Amino acid sequence: CLSPALYPKHAHDENIVVVVDILRATSSICTALHNGVKRIIPVATVEEARTKKEEGFIVASERDGYVLDFADFGNSPFNFTAERVKDREIVYSTTNGTRCIHMASHSRAVVIGSFLNLTALTDWLLQQDAPVLIFCASWKDRFSLEDTVFAGALAEKLLESGKYETICDAVTASLDLWSLAKNDLNGYIQKAAQKGRLAAKGLDDCIEFCHQPDFTKVVPQFSGGDLIPVS
Ligand code: MLT
Repeated sequence: CLSPALYPKHAHDENIVVVVDILRATSSICTALHNGVKRIIPVATVEEARTKKEEGFIVASERDGYVLDFADFGNSPFNFTAERVKDREIVYSTTNGTRCIHMASHSRAVVIGSFLNLTALTDWLLQQDAPVLIFCASWKDRFSLEDTVFAGALAEKLLESGKYETICDAVTASLDLWSLAKNDLNGYIQKAAQKGRLAAKGLDDCIEFCHQPDFTKVVPQFSGGDLIPVS
């Protein structure tokens, strides 16, 4: 498990990378795929997103939480309803999450993790045969509480399986945080900086949803430039 400050210094091409941005990018991606989006095309920059809009794509995009003026909608998971996304292609660009997906693209595989798909993701990882690296997207290369707590939840499941072991202090710290948080996850996450950022803009209505385990069985994978379910 690596924080963004350490990534990609200790990343290896043979890793399966789990990109995590609980508030809100990876929760939104899981929701969109659950609701039947055909593919999400994550782009790292505002310029790329604008070009795609000019080409006629539907664009979901935010920077610092605010919907970009040319975008069709922003980054709340509640925006990605079946009515809006089913069988459609959506171009997607966010402050941190989409950038991290592209950073990890040289890896053996890039998959998307959130509480919403925790068990499905664990089950898929346990069928693979490669080291797992949990990449917490966080906020502008800073440490993030909610992503690290999720890393602990995922690490606990992987370690309990007996298939994985670790000597990584970042994993140990994430497990300790998870053990502090898990009995009252929504209460614990109130102190997260990103909760404060979202609340200041009136965008915190999705926080409880984003910490709901196993809303979906979908495991998004970054493949050929698209986010689609793992096959
Ligand atoms: C991101 O990818 O930067 C975030 O998820 C930001 C947000 O949704 O506010």
